[in-house]
Amino acid sequence: MSEDRYLTFALGKGRLASKTMELFEKIGITCDEMKDKDSRKLIFVNEELKLKFFLAKGPDVPTYVEYGAADIGVVGKDTIMEENRRVYEVLDLGYGKCRMCVCGPESAKELLKHHEMIRVASKYPNIAKDYFYNKKHQTVDIIKLNGSVELGPIVQLADVIVDIVETGSTLRENGLEVLEEICPLSARMIVNQVSMQMEPDRIRRLIQELRQHL
Ligand code: PRP
Repeated sequence: MSEDRYLTFALGKGRLASKTMELFEKIGITCDEMKDKDSRKLIFVNEELKLKFFLAKGPDVPTYVEYGAADIGVVGKDTIMEENRRVYEVLDLGYGKCRMCVCGPESAKELLKHHEMIRVASKYPNIAKDYFYNKKHQTVDIIKLNGSVELGPIVQLADVIVDIVETGSTLRENGLEVLEEICPLSARMIVNQVSMQMEPDRIRRLIQELRQHL
């Protein structure tokens, strides 16, 4: 397909988008307009390179990519696992490194050993379900929360949580700890399945160039 068509990127808003643009700059992909931190604009265009970037809420990035509203997305592995969309995951970008873990008070360790029915609070109910049901074969009650998940065990809403741990300070400051590690996480690049077939050269070239700078 000709390079006249815009290649469209959906980026997870915030630090992830800034890190991504820093990396893209290294391969000559720039978008100065995006650097204005006070701007509320959501779509940016690089006319010269025929690229479009839009800023979306992280969990929506795989949705835009699956439906082809974006050819390419950059989002955390946690979101990719939780949303489970039909997209190709093509590149580990290496930044945004953290871990998905089961956390709780030290006293909850025992509850993870004997297939007991426990309550698990999480912003990631699908990841929690997959881990407890399919990997640990433990039937649990999963409670979806939208943030500040560490509150769960403290106010006795849940026995443990499934959440992201980066520095570990949120856990420490709330008297909780990592009980089990589910998997490592980082930012990934995802691609729409049709776009990959329609523009294999352009997308592969991009992946190769990025890989050289990681
Ligand atoms: C995330 C995550 C933990 C915290 C982990 O929350 O859910 O709460 O960061 O980071 P740490 O190990 O460096 O302390 P986020 O800041 O995204 O806010 P949220 O609780 O509203 O989801």
